[in-house]
Amino acid sequence: MRRKLAAGNWKMNGRAADLAELAPLPAPQDIDVLICPPATLLSRAAMAAPHLSFGGQDCHPADTGAHTGDISAAMLADAGASYVILGHSERRSDHAERDALIQYKVNAARQAGLVPILCVGETRDQRDAGTAPRIVADQIAAGLPPDIETVVVAYEPVWAIGSGATPTLDEIADMHRQIRQTLAAHLTPDVAAATRLLYGGSVKPGNAADIFAIDDVDGALVGGASLRAEDFGPIITALAAS
Ligand code: PGA
Repeated sequence: MRRKLAAGNWKMNGRAADLAELAPLPAPQDIDVLICPPATLLSRAAMAAPHLSFGGQDCHPADTGAHTGDISAAMLADAGASYVILGHSERRSDHAERDALIQYKVNAARQAGLVPILCVGETRDQRDAGTAPRIVADQIAAGLPPDIETVVVAYEPVWAIGSGATPTLDEIADMHRQIRQTLAAHLTPDVAAATRLLYGGSVKPGNAADIFAIDDVDGALVGGASLRAEDFGPIITALAAS
């Protein structure tokens, strides 16, 4: 059985006062609830809300060294993280991250004992051109080392992030089924069956239950709606009920 995962990605949002949003979040027994705050808040968040899990939003592929401005996976773990988001489309576009670099980061994460959350997803033009399945399969094959055993994959169509638009439920179901097949071929069938697949992109309290009812959706990676407990709380509750 895959443990469901409700993951919040605060992106470049959050000051100390926003940690007050964490205490009211439910942590139902049978699911994992994860917040990925900015690195500046990670250790304070982990201390403020020990009922939740915490993660980083990116890491450098090296462990230590002369990399001004960067943060290693081991440093995230030291600050209280147990997960790290990698290859988010905003990293791919803002920082020109390519799949080969992302695979180095995935390796760094697992060496530090963090669970990597690999983000994949097509642009609107790629979906309209019918190439979304190939784009996503290629991102997985190029981003994941073939011997990895513990990873989370988040399917986040770029055009759905922060836009209020989402794919249809059938489109999400099709892509998640295909991602599991890709994982079975690239990794092993057992690892594919155990890997949690998250949907991300404009998940809100109003659409969460329908998305969580889809086979092969094991949770969500939530941006905007993770910033306030009044929004993220009902999403967590919907996942626990699914
Ligand atoms: P969103 O962001 O929920 O605000 O669309 C999702 C994400 O980028 O992880």
